Amino acid sequence: MPVIDYLRISLIDRCNFRCQYCMPSGAELDYLLEENFLTKDEIITLLKEVFIPLGFNKFRLTGGEPLLRPDIVEIVEAIAALPETEDLALSTNAFLLEKLAQPLYDAGLKRINISLDSLNPEQFDSIIGNNGRSRWQQTWNGILAAHEVGFDPLKLNVVVIPGVNDTEILDLAALTFEKNWHVRFIEFMPIGNWELERDRAWIPSEEIRQDIRQRWGLDSGTVTGNGPADVFQIPGAKGTLGFISQMSECFCDNCNRMRLSADGWLRPCLLNEQEQLDLKSQLRKSPNFAQLRDQVNYLLDIKPEINFKERDKGTTTGTYTRTMSQIGG
Ligand code: GTP
Ligand code: 5AD
Ligand code: SF4
Repeated sequence: MPVIDYLRISLIDRCNFRCQYCMPSGAELDYLLEENFLTKDEIITLLKEVFIPLGFNKFRLTGGEPLLRPDIVEIVEAIAALPETEDLALSTNAFLLEKLAQPLYDAGLKRINISLDSLNPEQFDSIIGNNGRSRWQQTWNGILAAHEVGFDPLKLNVVVIPGVNDTEILDLAALTFEKNWHVRFIEFMPIGNWELERDRAWIPSEEIRQDIRQRWGLDSGTVTGNGPADVFQIPGAKGTLGFISQMSECFCDNCNRMRLSADGWLRPCLLNEQEQLDLKSQLRKSPNFAQLRDQVNYLLDIKPEINFKERDKGTTTGTYTRTMSQIGG
Protein backbone atom coordinates (compact mmCIF):
# COMPACT_ATOMS: atom_id res chain seq x y z
CA MET A 1 0.00 0.00 0.00
CA PRO A 2 1.38 3.42 -0.90
CA VAL A 3 2.18 5.95 1.78
CA ILE A 4 -0.35 8.77 1.69
CA ASP A 5 1.76 11.88 2.13
CA TYR A 6 0.60 14.19 -0.67
CA LEU A 7 -2.06 16.83 0.02
CA ARG A 8 -3.67 18.76 -2.81
CA ILE A 9 -4.89 22.05 -1.40
CA SER A 10 -7.53 23.87 -3.41
CA LEU A 11 -7.38 27.60 -2.72
CA ILE A 12 -10.41 28.81 -4.66
CA ASP A 13 -13.29 27.34 -6.67
CA ARG A 14 -13.42 30.18 -9.19
CA CYS A 15 -11.47 30.33 -12.42
CA ASN A 16 -10.77 32.95 -15.07
CA PHE A 17 -11.15 30.23 -17.73
CA ARG A 18 -14.02 27.87 -18.25
CA CYS A 19 -12.46 24.77 -19.80
CA GLN A 20 -15.14 22.58 -21.26
CA TYR A 21 -13.89 19.44 -19.49
CA CYS A 22 -13.66 21.13 -16.10
CA MET A 23 -16.54 23.57 -15.71
CA PRO A 24 -19.69 22.62 -17.59
CA SER A 25 -21.00 25.24 -19.99
CA GLY A 26 -24.49 26.61 -19.55
CA ALA A 27 -25.73 26.66 -15.98
CA GLU A 28 -24.04 28.99 -13.53
CA LEU A 29 -21.96 27.22 -10.92
CA ASP A 30 -22.74 27.63 -7.27
CA TYR A 31 -19.61 29.48 -6.13
CA LEU A 32 -18.50 29.50 -2.52
CA LEU A 33 -18.73 32.72 -0.55
CA GLU A 34 -15.26 34.14 -0.03
CA GLU A 35 -15.67 34.05 3.75
CA ASN A 36 -15.75 30.27 3.45
CA PHE A 37 -12.29 30.00 1.91
CA LEU A 38 -9.67 28.76 4.32
CA THR A 39 -7.37 31.66 5.10
CA LYS A 40 -3.60 31.42 4.81
CA ASP A 41 -3.31 31.12 8.59
CA GLU A 42 -5.97 28.40 8.75
CA ILE A 43 -4.17 26.40 6.06
CA ILE A 44 -0.88 26.69 7.93
CA THR A 45 -2.54 25.70 11.22
CA LEU A 46 -4.04 22.61 9.58
CA LEU A 47 -0.71 21.65 8.07
CA LYS A 48 1.20 22.14 11.32
CA GLU A 49 -1.33 20.59 13.69
CA VAL A 50 -2.93 17.88 11.59
CA PHE A 51 -1.31 16.93 8.30
CA ILE A 52 2.40 17.22 9.02
CA PRO A 53 2.13 15.21 12.26
CA LEU A 54 0.37 12.52 10.19
CA GLY A 55 3.29 12.37 7.76
CA PHE A 56 2.15 14.64 4.91
CA ASN A 57 5.11 16.51 3.41
CA LYS A 58 4.20 17.06 -0.26
CA PHE A 59 1.78 19.83 -1.06
CA ARG A 60 0.19 21.08 -4.28
CA LEU A 61 -1.88 24.22 -4.59
CA THR A 62 -4.80 23.95 -7.00
CA GLY A 63 -8.15 25.59 -7.74
CA GLY A 64 -10.18 26.62 -9.71
CA GLU A 65 -7.34 28.94 -10.55
CA PRO A 66 -5.04 29.42 -7.55
CA LEU A 67 -3.43 32.58 -8.97
CA LEU A 68 -6.77 34.35 -8.43
CA ARG A 69 -6.09 34.27 -4.70
CA PRO A 70 -4.72 37.74 -3.86
CA ASP A 71 -2.55 36.17 -1.13
CA ILE A 72 -1.09 33.40 -3.31
CA VAL A 73 2.53 34.51 -2.87
CA GLU A 74 2.13 34.73 0.91
CA ILE A 75 0.54 31.27 1.02
CA VAL A 76 3.43 29.80 -0.97
CA GLU A 77 5.94 31.55 1.25
CA ALA A 78 4.31 30.24 4.43
CA ILE A 79 4.12 26.61 3.25
CA ALA A 80 7.65 26.69 1.82
CA ALA A 81 8.92 27.97 5.17
CA LEU A 82 7.62 24.93 7.06
CA PRO A 83 10.72 22.79 7.70
CA GLU A 84 8.79 19.57 6.97
CA THR A 85 7.75 20.65 3.45
CA GLU A 86 9.61 18.37 1.04
CA ASP A 87 7.78 19.35 -2.12
CA LEU A 88 5.59 22.32 -2.95
CA ALA A 89 4.01 22.68 -6.37
CA LEU A 90 1.19 24.55 -8.07
CA SER A 91 -1.28 23.76 -10.87
CA THR A 92 -2.34 26.80 -12.90
CA ASN A 93 -3.68 27.90 -16.27
CA ALA A 94 -0.79 30.44 -16.51
CA PHE A 95 -2.99 33.35 -17.60
CA LEU A 96 -1.76 35.44 -14.63
CA LEU A 97 1.67 33.85 -14.45
CA GLU A 98 3.80 36.29 -16.42
CA LYS A 99 3.98 38.76 -13.51
CA LEU A 100 3.70 36.18 -10.73
CA ALA A 101 6.34 33.67 -11.86
CA GLN A 102 9.28 35.48 -10.24
CA PRO A 103 7.55 36.34 -6.91
CA LEU A 104 6.29 32.75 -6.64
CA TYR A 105 9.75 31.35 -7.32
CA ASP A 106 11.30 33.73 -4.81
CA ALA A 107 8.67 32.70 -2.25
CA GLY A 108 9.92 29.11 -2.50
CA LEU A 109 7.77 27.47 -5.19
CA LYS A 110 9.93 25.22 -7.32
CA ARG A 111 7.51 23.17 -9.42
CA ILE A 112 4.63 24.27 -11.56
CA ASN A 113 2.14 22.37 -13.73
CA ILE A 114 0.35 24.34 -16.42
CA SER A 115 -2.73 23.42 -18.45
CA LEU A 116 -2.15 23.95 -22.16
CA ASP A 117 -4.55 22.10 -24.40
CA SER A 118 -3.72 23.71 -27.72
CA LEU A 119 -1.04 25.61 -29.60
CA ASN A 120 -3.66 27.07 -31.88
CA PRO A 121 -5.12 30.30 -30.43
CA GLU A 122 -8.59 29.76 -31.89
CA GLN A 123 -8.80 26.19 -30.70
CA PHE A 124 -7.40 27.23 -27.32
CA ASP A 125 -10.04 29.94 -26.88
CA SER A 126 -12.77 27.52 -27.80
CA ILE A 127 -11.57 24.93 -25.25
CA ILE A 128 -11.32 27.49 -22.44
CA GLY A 129 -14.72 28.95 -23.32
CA ASN A 130 -13.43 32.41 -24.29
CA ASN A 131 -15.41 34.53 -26.73
CA GLY A 132 -13.47 37.76 -26.29
CA ARG A 133 -9.91 38.79 -27.22
CA SER A 134 -7.73 35.72 -27.55
CA ARG A 135 -6.15 34.56 -24.32
CA TRP A 136 -3.58 32.28 -25.91
CA GLN A 137 -0.66 34.73 -26.13
CA GLN A 138 -0.91 35.90 -22.52
CA THR A 139 -1.03 32.24 -21.42
CA TRP A 140 2.00 31.40 -23.56
CA ASN A 141 3.84 34.42 -22.11
CA GLY A 142 3.07 33.04 -18.65
CA ILE A 143 4.60 29.70 -19.62
CA LEU A 144 7.71 31.37 -21.04
CA ALA A 145 8.05 33.50 -17.89
CA ALA A 146 7.92 30.36 -15.72
CA HIS A 147 10.61 28.82 -17.94
CA GLU A 148 12.84 31.89 -17.74
CA VAL A 149 12.52 32.12 -13.99
CA GLY A 150 13.74 28.56 -13.68
CA PHE A 151 10.81 26.34 -12.71
CA ASP A 152 12.08 22.85 -13.27
CA PRO A 153 10.50 20.57 -14.21
CA LEU A 154 7.97 22.73 -15.98
CA LYS A 155 5.02 20.50 -16.80
CA LEU A 156 2.36 21.16 -19.40
CA ASN A 157 -0.94 19.30 -18.95
CA VAL A 158 -2.87 18.47 -22.11
CA VAL A 159 -6.32 16.97 -21.60
CA VAL A 160 -6.88 15.11 -24.86
CA ILE A 161 -10.42 15.60 -26.19
CA PRO A 162 -11.25 13.43 -29.21
CA GLY A 163 -12.31 15.47 -32.22
CA VAL A 164 -11.03 18.67 -30.62
CA ASN A 165 -7.29 18.74 -29.86
CA ASP A 166 -6.22 15.18 -30.72
CA THR A 167 -4.91 16.50 -34.07
CA GLU A 168 -2.32 18.52 -32.14
CA ILE A 169 -0.73 15.68 -30.21
CA LEU A 170 2.43 15.51 -32.36
CA ASP A 171 2.84 19.31 -32.33
CA LEU A 172 2.54 19.39 -28.56
CA ALA A 173 4.93 16.46 -28.17
CA ALA A 174 7.40 18.25 -30.48
CA LEU A 175 7.70 21.08 -27.93
CA THR A 176 10.07 18.76 -26.08
CA PHE A 177 12.63 19.05 -28.90
CA GLU A 178 12.96 22.78 -28.21
CA LYS A 179 12.57 22.93 -24.43
CA ASN A 180 13.31 20.72 -21.45
CA TRP A 181 9.59 20.74 -20.62
CA HIS A 182 7.53 17.77 -19.51
CA VAL A 183 4.45 17.53 -21.75
CA ARG A 184 1.72 15.30 -20.34
CA PHE A 185 -1.23 13.86 -22.14
CA ILE A 186 -4.19 13.22 -19.85
CA GLU A 187 -7.13 10.98 -20.59
CA PHE A 188 -10.30 13.02 -20.21
CA MET A 189 -12.24 12.06 -17.08
CA PRO A 190 -16.00 12.32 -17.35
CA ILE A 191 -16.65 14.35 -14.23
CA GLY A 192 -19.30 16.99 -13.79
CA ASN A 193 -19.68 17.61 -17.51
CA TRP A 194 -22.47 15.44 -18.76
CA GLU A 195 -22.46 16.93 -22.23
CA LEU A 196 -18.89 15.81 -22.92
CA GLU A 197 -19.44 12.49 -21.19
CA ARG A 198 -22.27 11.67 -23.55
CA ASP A 199 -20.68 12.98 -26.70
CA ARG A 200 -17.03 12.07 -26.49
CA ALA A 201 -14.98 9.13 -25.42
CA TRP A 202 -11.43 9.42 -24.13
CA ILE A 203 -8.39 8.37 -26.14
CA PRO A 204 -6.27 5.67 -24.47
CA SER A 205 -2.72 6.83 -23.75
CA GLU A 206 -1.33 3.82 -25.57
CA GLU A 207 -2.87 5.04 -28.84
CA ILE A 208 -1.17 8.39 -28.39
CA ARG A 209 2.13 6.68 -27.58
CA GLN A 210 1.78 4.60 -30.77
CA ASP A 211 1.41 7.74 -32.89
CA ILE A 212 4.46 9.32 -31.28
CA ARG A 213 6.45 6.08 -31.48
CA GLN A 214 5.71 5.76 -35.20
CA ARG A 215 6.81 9.31 -35.91
CA TRP A 216 9.97 9.60 -33.79
CA GLY A 217 10.37 6.52 -31.58
CA LEU A 218 9.88 6.58 -27.81
CA ASP A 219 12.15 5.61 -24.91
CA SER A 220 11.33 5.52 -21.22
CA GLY A 221 12.23 8.65 -19.24
CA THR A 222 12.25 10.18 -15.78
CA VAL A 223 10.91 13.34 -14.19
CA THR A 224 10.33 14.56 -10.61
CA GLY A 225 6.76 14.29 -9.38
CA ASN A 226 4.24 12.73 -7.03
CA GLY A 227 1.51 12.03 -9.53
CA PRO A 228 0.57 8.98 -11.57
CA ALA A 229 2.17 9.92 -14.92
CA ASP A 230 4.11 7.29 -16.91
CA VAL A 231 7.19 9.00 -18.28
CA PHE A 232 8.77 8.63 -21.75
CA GLN A 233 11.12 10.58 -23.99
CA ILE A 234 11.49 11.01 -27.72
CA PRO A 235 15.08 10.08 -28.65
CA GLY A 236 17.16 13.26 -28.86
CA ALA A 237 14.52 15.47 -27.22
CA LYS A 238 15.44 17.87 -24.41
CA GLY A 239 12.18 17.36 -22.55
CA THR A 240 10.06 14.37 -21.59
CA LEU A 241 6.53 13.15 -22.17
CA GLY A 242 4.05 11.94 -19.57
CA PHE A 243 0.83 9.99 -19.83
CA ILE A 244 -1.89 10.09 -17.19
CA SER A 245 -4.17 7.18 -17.93
CA GLN A 246 -6.79 7.07 -15.23
CA MET A 247 -9.42 5.74 -17.65
CA SER A 248 -7.50 2.98 -19.45
CA GLU A 249 -5.15 1.96 -16.64
CA CYS A 250 -6.77 2.68 -13.27
CA PHE A 251 -4.10 3.86 -10.83
CA CYS A 252 -6.26 4.03 -7.69
CA ASP A 253 -4.33 1.22 -6.00
CA ASN A 254 -1.26 3.45 -5.94
CA CYS A 255 -3.08 6.60 -4.85
CA ASN A 256 -0.90 8.63 -2.49
CA ARG A 257 -3.06 11.72 -1.98
CA MET A 258 -5.89 13.45 -0.22
CA ARG A 259 -7.58 16.69 -1.15
CA LEU A 260 -8.48 19.72 0.89
CA SER A 261 -11.19 21.83 -0.73
CA ALA A 262 -11.13 25.63 -0.73
CA ASP A 263 -13.79 25.63 2.00
CA GLY A 264 -11.91 23.19 4.17
CA TRP A 265 -13.43 19.78 3.43
CA LEU A 266 -11.01 16.91 3.40
CA ARG A 267 -11.72 14.43 0.62
CA PRO A 268 -9.89 11.13 0.46
CA CYS A 269 -10.73 10.51 -3.20
CA LEU A 270 -11.34 12.74 -6.21
CA LEU A 271 -14.63 11.02 -6.84
CA ASN A 272 -15.93 10.24 -3.41
CA GLU A 273 -18.77 12.48 -2.30
CA GLN A 274 -19.75 10.54 0.81
CA GLU A 275 -16.69 10.21 3.03
CA GLN A 276 -15.48 13.70 3.73
CA LEU A 277 -14.53 15.71 6.75
CA ASP A 278 -15.47 19.31 7.49
CA LEU A 279 -12.19 20.59 8.91
CA LYS A 280 -13.04 24.28 8.58
CA SER A 281 -16.07 24.21 10.89
CA GLN A 282 -14.09 22.45 13.57
CA LEU A 283 -11.14 24.77 13.11
CA ARG A 284 -13.33 27.86 13.48
CA LYS A 285 -14.85 26.62 16.77
CA SER A 286 -12.33 25.61 19.40
CA PRO A 287 -10.42 22.86 17.72
CA ASN A 288 -9.18 19.77 19.47
CA PHE A 289 -6.26 18.91 17.20
CA ALA A 290 -5.74 15.43 18.62
CA GLN A 291 -9.35 14.68 17.71
CA LEU A 292 -8.93 16.15 14.24
CA ARG A 293 -5.87 13.97 13.68
CA ASP A 294 -7.88 10.90 14.75
CA GLN A 295 -10.61 11.76 12.28
CA VAL A 296 -8.12 12.22 9.44
CA ASN A 297 -6.40 9.00 10.44
CA TYR A 298 -9.72 7.21 10.13
CA LEU A 299 -10.09 8.50 6.55
CA LEU A 300 -6.52 7.39 5.82
CA ASP A 301 -7.41 3.91 7.07
CA ILE A 302 -10.53 3.52 4.97
CA LYS A 303 -9.13 5.23 1.87
CA PRO A 304 -8.15 2.07 -0.01
CA GLU A 305 -11.75 0.84 0.17
CA ILE A 306 -13.32 4.05 -1.03
CA ASN A 307 -11.00 4.75 -3.96
CA PHE A 308 -13.31 4.75 -6.93
CA LYS A 309 -11.73 2.02 -8.96
CA GLU A 310 -14.72 1.16 -11.11
CA ARG A 311 -15.54 4.74 -11.76
CA ASP A 312 -11.95 5.54 -12.69
CA LYS A 313 -12.01 2.76 -15.24
CA GLY A 314 -14.99 4.44 -16.78
CA THR A 315 -17.11 1.36 -16.27
CA THR A 316 -19.89 3.05 -14.36
CA THR A 317 -21.79 6.18 -15.16
CA GLY A 318 -21.81 8.53 -12.28
CA THR A 319 -23.97 10.59 -10.10
CA TYR A 320 -21.01 12.88 -9.41
CA THR A 321 -22.28 16.35 -9.46
CA ARG A 322 -19.25 18.40 -8.50
CA THR A 323 -17.07 19.74 -11.31
CA MET A 324 -13.26 19.41 -11.32
CA SER A 325 -13.00 23.10 -10.47
CA GLN A 326 -15.17 22.56 -7.40
CA ILE A 327 -13.33 19.45 -6.26
CA GLY A 328 -9.92 20.97 -6.94
CA GLY A 329 -8.43 19.24 -9.99
P1 GTP B 1 3.07 15.85 -10.11
O1 GTP B 1 3.19 14.50 -10.73
O2 GTP B 1 3.55 15.89 -8.71
O3 GTP B 1 3.74 16.90 -10.91
O4 GTP B 1 1.54 16.30 -10.04
P2 GTP B 1 0.14 15.69 -10.48
O5 GTP B 1 0.22 15.02 -11.77
O6 GTP B 1 -0.38 14.93 -9.33
O7 GTP B 1 -0.71 17.07 -10.59
P3 GTP B 1 -1.61 17.84 -11.65
O8 GTP B 1 -2.35 18.88 -10.87
O9 GTP B 1 -0.82 18.36 -12.77
O10 GTP B 1 -2.66 16.77 -12.16
C1 GTP B 1 -2.49 16.08 -13.36
C2 GTP B 1 -3.70 15.27 -13.72
O11 GTP B 1 -3.87 14.17 -12.82
C3 GTP B 1 -5.00 16.04 -13.72
O12 GTP B 1 -5.74 15.70 -14.87
C4 GTP B 1 -5.69 15.58 -12.51
O13 GTP B 1 -7.06 15.70 -12.59
C5 GTP B 1 -5.25 14.12 -12.45
N1 GTP B 1 -5.38 13.70 -11.09
C6 GTP B 1 -4.84 14.33 -10.04
N2 GTP B 1 -5.18 13.70 -8.90
C7 GTP B 1 -5.97 12.66 -9.26
C8 GTP B 1 -6.66 11.64 -8.52
O14 GTP B 1 -6.61 11.57 -7.30
N3 GTP B 1 -7.37 10.73 -9.23
C9 GTP B 1 -7.44 10.76 -10.56
N4 GTP B 1 -8.14 9.83 -11.17
N5 GTP B 1 -6.81 11.72 -11.30
C10 GTP B 1 -6.10 12.66 -10.65
N1 5AD C 1 -10.23 15.13 -16.96
C1 5AD C 1 -8.87 15.11 -16.88
N2 5AD C 1 -8.14 16.16 -16.43
C2 5AD C 1 -8.80 17.26 -16.06
N3 5AD C 1 -8.36 18.45 -15.58
C3 5AD C 1 -9.43 19.23 -15.33
N4 5AD C 1 -10.57 18.57 -15.63
C4 5AD C 1 -10.20 17.34 -16.10
C5 5AD C 1 -10.93 16.21 -16.58
N5 5AD C 1 -12.26 16.20 -16.64
C6 5AD C 1 -6.94 18.77 -15.40
C7 5AD C 1 -6.56 20.15 -15.94
C8 5AD C 1 -5.43 20.58 -15.04
C9 5AD C 1 -5.38 19.55 -13.96
C10 5AD C 1 -5.20 20.09 -12.59
O1 5AD C 1 -6.59 18.83 -14.05
O2 5AD C 1 -6.11 20.08 -17.24
O3 5AD C 1 -4.22 20.61 -15.73
FE1 SF4 D 1 -9.84 26.75 -14.85
FE2 SF4 D 1 -8.03 24.75 -14.78
FE3 SF4 D 1 -10.61 24.19 -14.75
FE4 SF4 D 1 -9.55 25.18 -16.97
S1 SF4 D 1 -9.00 23.21 -15.99
S2 SF4 D 1 -11.51 25.85 -16.03
S3 SF4 D 1 -8.03 26.54 -16.20
S4 SF4 D 1 -9.52 25.25 -13.18
